[in-house]
Amino acid sequence: MKTTIGFIGCGNIAKAMIGGLIKSKTISSESIMVSNRTPDKLERINNSYGVLTTTENKEVARFADILILSVKTNKYYEVIGEVKDSIKKNTVIVSIAAGRSMDSIEEAFEKKIKLVRTMPNIPAIVGEAMSALCHNDMVREDEFESVINIFKSFGEVEVVDEELMDVVTAISGSSPALVYLFIESLADGAVLKGFPRNKAYKLVSQAVLGAAKIVLETGKHPGQLKDEVCSAGGTTIEAIYALEKKGFRGHVIEAVEKGTEKSKKLSGK
Ligand SMILES: NC(=O)c1ccc[n+]([C@@H]2O[C@H](COP(=O)([O-])OP(=O)(O)OC[C@H]3O[C@@H](n4cnc5c(N)ncnc54)[C@H](OP(=O)(O)O)[C@@H]3O)[C@@H](O)[C@H]2O)c1
Repeated sequence: MKTTIGFIGCGNIAKAMIGGLIKSKTISSESIMVSNRTPDKLERINNSYGVLTTTENKEVARFADILILSVKTNKYYEVIGEVKDSIKKNTVIVSIAAGRSMDSIEEAFEKKIKLVRTMPNIPAIVGEAMSALCHNDMVREDEFESVINIFKSFGEVEVVDEELMDVVTAISGSSPALVYLFIESLADGAVLKGFPRNKAYKLVSQAVLGAAKIVLETGKHPGQLKDEVCSAGGTTIEAIYALEKKGFRGHVIEAVEKGTEKSKKLSGK
């Protein structure tokens, strides 16, 4: 890839994305520039991947053909105010913020900009992110393709309508945290029954990974796959009964609803 990519903010998700980009050899390290409020993280990212770094957000804005705003959602308007007059004419701005609509970001720039809204997730670190993307009418298809290729370098991508982005935030942006909770709970159950914790995490995590892979690779309905594991009168259906009695599905569905509503609230909807 010949484009230059800028990141403003060098936190968890930016580090994961930069790692994915470099490890996949999608782009060379000198074509990436990263800024951050404080210098420590910049030193670490430079040591790990050799990317260009600066504490000046405007310098990144002047450098980037594709500029990824990777500060926390509540810092978006402050950072946009700082860099809006420094971006190049054809720069594509990429938002990864939960709960920031394209309208609100365009308004903050106070001019027509090329804008892509995305929601990646933290498994970008291991090249297994799930990212959903949409764009405004200023972005050409080839420009959108370039942004898609960035996100493909550290995982899978899906193009969605902007109105679905709040749900994406809940089921993909945030869901790794829910899965970690599930993994930890399964392992706690094992520890309760005398199983060593370090081995429990390995067994549980591999089971989660394998189960997800079957869903993706076979396309079978998860309910059918669940039935295939439950033999009549067996151990698995006993465990499922215990979860269903406590309203497991209802709780998970409610978690998705709450996450979606929070994302909408952040966008002022
Ligand atoms: N984490 C995820 O799994 C995830 C997934 C999808 C989307 N997102 C989105 O990604 C965005 C960032 O999330 P995160 O988890 O990566 O946050 P984070 O770890 O807190 O990183 C934010 C970074 O921005 C830096 N920063 C703050 N103010 C700045 C400024 N004025 N100029 C330059 N840098 C500044 C911070 O630097 P200091 O540490 O020096 O203050 C920090 O390194 C959020 O909008 C979030 O919704 C996150």
